Amino acid sequence: MKKILITGGAGYIGSHTAVELWNAGMEPIILDDLSNSDEKVLDRLEEITGKRFAFFKGDCNDKSLLERIATEHQLAGVIHFAAFKAVGESTSQPLKYYKNNVGSLIVLLEFMQEQGIQDLVFSSSCTVYGQPEVLPVTESTPRQEAESPYGNTKKICEDILMDYVKSKPGVRVISLRYFNPVGAHPSAKIGELPIGTPQNLVPYITQTAAGIREKLTVFGNDYDTSDGSCVRDYIHVVDVADAHVKALSYLSGQEDNFYEVFNVGTGKGNTVLEVIHAFEKVSGQKLNYVIGPRRPGDVVKTWADTTKINQVLGWYPKYSLEDSMRDSWNWQKRL
Ligand code: NAD
Ligand code: WQD
Repeated sequence: MKKILITGGAGYIGSHTAVELWNAGMEPIILDDLSNSDEKVLDRLEEITGKRFAFFKGDCNDKSLLERIATEHQLAGVIHFAAFKAVGESTSQPLKYYKNNVGSLIVLLEFMQEQGIQDLVFSSSCTVYGQPEVLPVTESTPRQEAESPYGNTKKICEDILMDYVKSKPGVRVISLRYFNPVGAHPSAKIGELPIGTPQNLVPYITQTAAGIREKLTVFGNDYDTSDGSCVRDYIHVVDVADAHVKALSYLSGQEDNFYEVFNVGTGKGNTVLEVIHAFEKVSGQKLNYVIGPRRPGDVVKTWADTTKINQVLGWYPKYSLEDSMRDSWNWQKRL
């Protein structure tokens, strides 16, 4: 069974990917410093899969720890999720973000080269596109100047990967540009664990419905969209996880020095109000929300063209927006 190192594997997308890897016959080896996750995730993963995954608590900037993992496990590939992702915090603490997000990628690439590990899947983001002029967004849509240091770390990491592969180090790399991952595992045993007040829409919705927040504020309803609220491409986290499995399988059939990027989205945009209504429908609850001012820096509308990932990786999303809302709500109720 191929062993795959998952950095950030206790986190939101990493934990779901561990399950999908296992279901596909690969063994996840998890490295996480638990800076934004909880060790209990390992118990939950065992409940879902029946397998206790190897877990290393530590920083993926720590090369000696990576070396220890490699002596204990023969690694066939790496999925690099570990990063800080709070957009607002990245503006007030940019060095923290550059150090962790960019620094860890460099350490990881050095480690992979030393160990002769070829395959890497990297977590990128639709944030690299900013507000695109033409929709939907294809992989050749120009990337824009980043809105935040966080967004810039994704752009820089993509550039590092591109330059690195050009230097012919023998690696094969895919960057996946996720749109808006939402939902939770249908078992409701793992999901997103926002620390403090959520910045993202869906956890804010579910916490409001659960009575943790008084009300949701919709950031603007006077944009040039069908109902005036912003449009995003909300993709179920299990579908996002599955894209990593498909990416790894695809990489193993490629020549050395391979690099590609793929969008991971549904190919469909939904407004904030549509998301709220989908939530209300599946939860049977009326959500307490008000219309507020626009959020500075918000992209008005973006959604993915998924032709490339559909055709090249054979990946298609299986879950709908309503499935995502149902699973997010079931997860919230379990918390
Ligand atoms: P998350 O915070 O839930 O998961 C990241 C995990 O990495 C956490 O468990 C954290 O403890 C760990 N981590 C952070 N720095 C580490 C380090 N130096 N060493 C070891 N572990 C470390 O976030 P997520 O939503 O699962 O995101 C995963 C990746 O996907 C990130 O790279 C993120 O930037 C990217 N991404 C996320 C979204 C999103 O909306 N969730 C969208 C696009 C891209
Ligand atoms: C979605 C929509 C808000 C909260 C973030 C990151 C980006 C990328 C994806 C990682 C927007 C509206 C939200 C609320 C609201 N992540 N909203 N009330 O803006 O697409 O981007 O996730 O790479 O880098 O910035 O996601 O969930 O914050 O917002 O009306 O209380 O919900 O205005 O239209 P966003 P989000």
